[in-house]
Amino acid sequence: MEPQQQTGSYSSFLASPESSYKHTSYFQVYDDLLKKYAGTDLTFVEVGVFNGGSLFMWRDFFGPKARIIGIDMNPGARKWQDHGFEIFIGSQSDPSFWSAFFKAVGPIDVFLDDGGHFFDQQIVTFECAIDSIKDGGLLLVEDTHTSFMNSFYGPSRLSFQSYAKMVADRINARHGPTRIPASMQSRAVYSVEFFESIVAFKIDRRKCIDGSPVFNRPPKESALDFAQTDRSIRANPAISTIRYLLRKISRLFRDLPILGPLVGQTLNDLANLDLLKYFVKR
Ligand SMILES: C[S@@+](CC[C@H](N)C(=O)[O-])C[C@H]1O[C@@H](n2cnc3c(N)ncnc32)[C@H](O)[C@@H]1O
Repeated sequence: MEPQQQTGSYSSFLASPESSYKHTSYFQVYDDLLKKYAGTDLTFVEVGVFNGGSLFMWRDFFGPKARIIGIDMNPGARKWQDHGFEIFIGSQSDPSFWSAFFKAVGPIDVFLDDGGHFFDQQIVTFECAIDSIKDGGLLLVEDTHTSFMNSFYGPSRLSFQSYAKMVADRINARHGPTRIPASMQSRAVYSVEFFESIVAFKIDRRKCIDGSPVFNRPPKESALDFAQTDRSIRANPAISTIRYLLRKISRLFRDLPILGPLVGQTLNDLANLDLLKYFVKR
């Protein structure tokens, strides 16, 4: 038996009386992230109704107390309202659809984007949904491999995967003295988890605190912090010195206007040429 076949979500997928279209790798992720909501009265939203099968799958998985809301551009999806699901018709690319939607439904526990899968749709949906996800809630985006597919206009510097990595980067801005502008700090995304074709954003504003260094107690006798002496203990002092100087000079350029950041970045890249092999296909 394949591992995903042992998951509760896969059993619910098979039990659905209507057709659903998922990937085999998703069921383990569903179980890992969503099992804790089973039996609760969560509000769950899925963008992408298609043949309706996943609505029944989620009802089976979460139980009868769950409020299950489906969204699709196809007006035919309305028929699933007769089965107790809330259905909204509109385009996930349209911010005005989202403002009306969230006004109507209120805050969401789990939001799953299984809609059109183009990265512009995924990004607009994320931006419009995030303020309506409850603390302790989840925003999941499926089929993120499309960021790398020709047929979905990928890869692109502005793809959803790039966007999600940027959101993950921004989490570090809460630490304080980074070069990520304060305006870009994330005050809602507590963590980001990357799976095969799924990105999960854990939303919790209460946990988005500004991190700062702290000692539990003063040291009895302070040890030398070797991070600062790294340059002198490297195997090749000449290369280490060049690297050190290039890094220092690069910092002088980064805040200069026009070509300054480019020159600064190039010098920094030169300083780290030995790392390049880890960034290219091997
Ligand atoms: C992959 S299917 C959904 C599969 C379904 N969740 C399941 O598990 O069987 C994608 C659905 O998204 C809908 N869709 C495509 N573009 C959309 C958009 N811009 N806004 C809303 N829904 C869209 C399509 O009509 C289609 O029904």
